[in-house]
Amino acid sequence: MPTVVNLDGALVPPARALVSVFDRGFLYGDSVYEVVRTCGGRPFELAAHLVRLGRSAARIGLSPRWDAQRTAAEVERTLEAAGGEDPPDPEAAPWNVAERYVRVIMTRGAGELGLDPALAVDPRAIVIVTPLHGPPARAYREGVKLAIVGVRHAPPGATDPSAKTGARVDYVLAVRDARAAGAHEALLLDARGFATEGASSNVFAVRGGRLATPPLAAGILEGVTRGVVLGLARQMGIPVEETSLRPEELEAAEEVFITSTVREILPVVRLGDRRVGAGRPGAVTARLHEAFRRRASGAAVG
Ligand code: PDD
Repeated sequence: MPTVVNLDGALVPPARALVSVFDRGFLYGDSVYEVVRTCGGRPFELAAHLVRLGRSAARIGLSPRWDAQRTAAEVERTLEAAGGEDPPDPEAAPWNVAERYVRVIMTRGAGELGLDPALAVDPRAIVIVTPLHGPPARAYREGVKLAIVGVRHAPPGATDPSAKTGARVDYVLAVRDARAAGAHEALLLDARGFATEGASSNVFAVRGGRLATPPLAAGILEGVTRGVVLGLARQMGIPVEETSLRPEELEAAEEVFITSTVREILPVVRLGDRRVGAGRPGAVTARLHEAFRRRASGAAVG
């Protein structure tokens, strides 16, 4: 069955995957999560995702039901149960065919109603495995549009946006605004007007042959894909700078792209109503994605 849920270690079909309305993940977004993809059926960069999950949990003082080792074992078990044929999708990018999307969720659990985390008992551990629906092949070929949305990115001292918690309503609204503007993804600015990150992606620009991306100090999520891309760029001899970028600087860049687990590296050709660079996907973006694909295929066989 292609979609399987693991609820605290019990493998159940989606219709039986039920969590209490008293669970604090449901009530307050009092949970942490990760999204992992498979490459060749194997989870890609699972260790890095589990490190980040542990860090997110520590940042909000949540003690997950499972440690990283148990979580990795449960991810493998759930993936095995989620085999089987997917319906053909002629639009899919070849590297997304037959791959799986894995969501790992750790909630603080249920308890008496109230914000105090000390009320929580029985933390839940959930793994959802379902077919991966990445952007279609056309999005990689032609590039996508980013919309600058009204929702501002939380400053690092607020809810700590660098922790991947379930409290995502800002990002939900950002994506709603982006879709209303006909864009694939929302770009969030900080209070000073600098670009931070997408609602579920990190943003990069190529300027004068150098790769630029906002620094972690901006309070952004330390994307696993972002880390892989920075490493590949350094290996390929592409100079890298982690620096604040204004929307005008993104527009004036030769190339812009976004990264995330599900998208990998996706070219951006429009920012709001403005064209980015030459208005088509660029050569550095393509070279980085080829290198990324080589790395992912290598990880799948090795
Ligand atoms: N989102 N920034 C934000 C705010 C994100 O939510 C994500 C990932 C990223 C990219 O991180 P990574 O490369 O590790 O996927 C950046 C996941 C995919 C999601 O919520 O669906």
